[in-house]
Amino acid sequence: MKVLVIGGGGREHALAWKLAQSKDAEQVFVAPGNAGTAREPGTRNVAIAATDTDALLDFAKSEGIDLTVVGPEDPLAGGLVDRFEAEGCRVLGPRKEAARLESSKGFSKDFMAHYGIPTARYERFTDFDQARRYLAGQAAPIVVKADGLAAGKGVVVATSIAEAEQAASAMLQEAQFKEAGRAIVIEEFLEGREASFICLVDGTDVVPLATSQDHKARDEGNCGPNTGGMGAYSPTPLITPELHRRVLEEVIHPTVRGLASEGTRYRGFLYAGLMLDSEGNPKVLEYNCRFGDPETQPILFRLDSDLLDHCLAATEGRLSESVPEWDARPALGVVLAIRDYPGSYPKGIPIAGLDEVEEEAGVKVFHAGTTADNGQVVTNGGRVLCVCAKEETLALAKERAYQATDKIRFEGKFCRRDIGAAVLASGEGD
Ligand code: AMP
Ligand code: GLY
Repeated sequence: MKVLVIGGGGREHALAWKLAQSKDAEQVFVAPGNAGTAREPGTRNVAIAATDTDALLDFAKSEGIDLTVVGPEDPLAGGLVDRFEAEGCRVLGPRKEAARLESSKGFSKDFMAHYGIPTARYERFTDFDQARRYLAGQAAPIVVKADGLAAGKGVVVATSIAEAEQAASAMLQEAQFKEAGRAIVIEEFLEGREASFICLVDGTDVVPLATSQDHKARDEGNCGPNTGGMGAYSPTPLITPELHRRVLEEVIHPTVRGLASEGTRYRGFLYAGLMLDSEGNPKVLEYNCRFGDPETQPILFRLDSDLLDHCLAATEGRLSESVPEWDARPALGVVLAIRDYPGSYPKGIPIAGLDEVEEEAGVKVFHAGTTADNGQVVTNGGRVLCVCAKEETLALAKERAYQATDKIRFEGKFCRRDIGAAVLASGEGD
């Protein structure tokens, strides 16, 4: 089978790497891919942007692609799946209507409120004066969110009402996130610990994938600005078997059924970002209509069964026959970013040490913002690599991942040194 993976980040490298291992995969194309997917056995890059639906559709048809898997949210929100399906091309991902769970925070909050799915209290605004009047009656900390897609950067956890006002003004009055910030959600600050709950959904049936925990803040101790994610590990002990059952019952199934009751089928990866309070009760911070990045990297590093088979089963509505099998060993991934990410940063910086690390068993380097320049791998984005290690215990996986990250060198290299540290310190890891 020929497979097309859309996207060019670490998530897509992991998806393509795993899909290429399938017994049925003849060739995996990645559009546009990165230097990692260019080097991977069985995968090949295609120079088409992830949002260029016309060119992607032409390519899928002319190449006779059997399955397209969509990585990032932008093409999903833009209706790529609707277009592919209308042309008879098999594709895994939600249609535009279903992708609103991620592409509009206001929609997702109203949806959760309507179906009784636990989430933070909130209000929606398009007018700054109304937002300001509302904020005057609230206490900090409080959270201000751009309604639309902002690459994980549209959320401000404000520690004072003045800061919240400023964030609301930047979004509503100064068009900080352009159209994505023309409407906002202001919501209650939730305290607790975060976990990522990601499932594969075939329209009706749900298969939960291995659990994970991301680290969204840029700096150690969860300080600094929000990012797309600075590292993740899987599985997370924060999701106990009892909580796992509750999340499926209180969040995932009501979400899929709620959409279906409105005539909207959900097919693809569905990600609930959860906040767990001190008693372990889950609340949904956000939905994503795709796999997480960097969660995909440690999760798929642990997948023993055939990802292509699971993806095909999801597109054919027979997920109940396709149960994933996991390596029991935990995996932990550390994101190597460029200093100043998520602000502006330079590109084209040469990366050294990759070959040495790539030869180690139990270690896998997934590329994100990289490209090849005359055979030399250079940086091409803020999050550059995700270095994953898999070991008998989470503590060993962490140690191993950091040993490997230390062997990779590029100017301005930056990483959090505490991925997985909090859960290990609490004694819940191992
Ligand atoms: P989101 O994109 O909505 O998941 O928000 C990004 C990050 O902001 C989350 O992963 C949390 O770390 C933080 N965050 C979002 N909403 C809240 C909230 N209501 N309370 C506390 N932190 C939040
Ligand atoms: N790692 C968070 C996300 O993919 O949105």
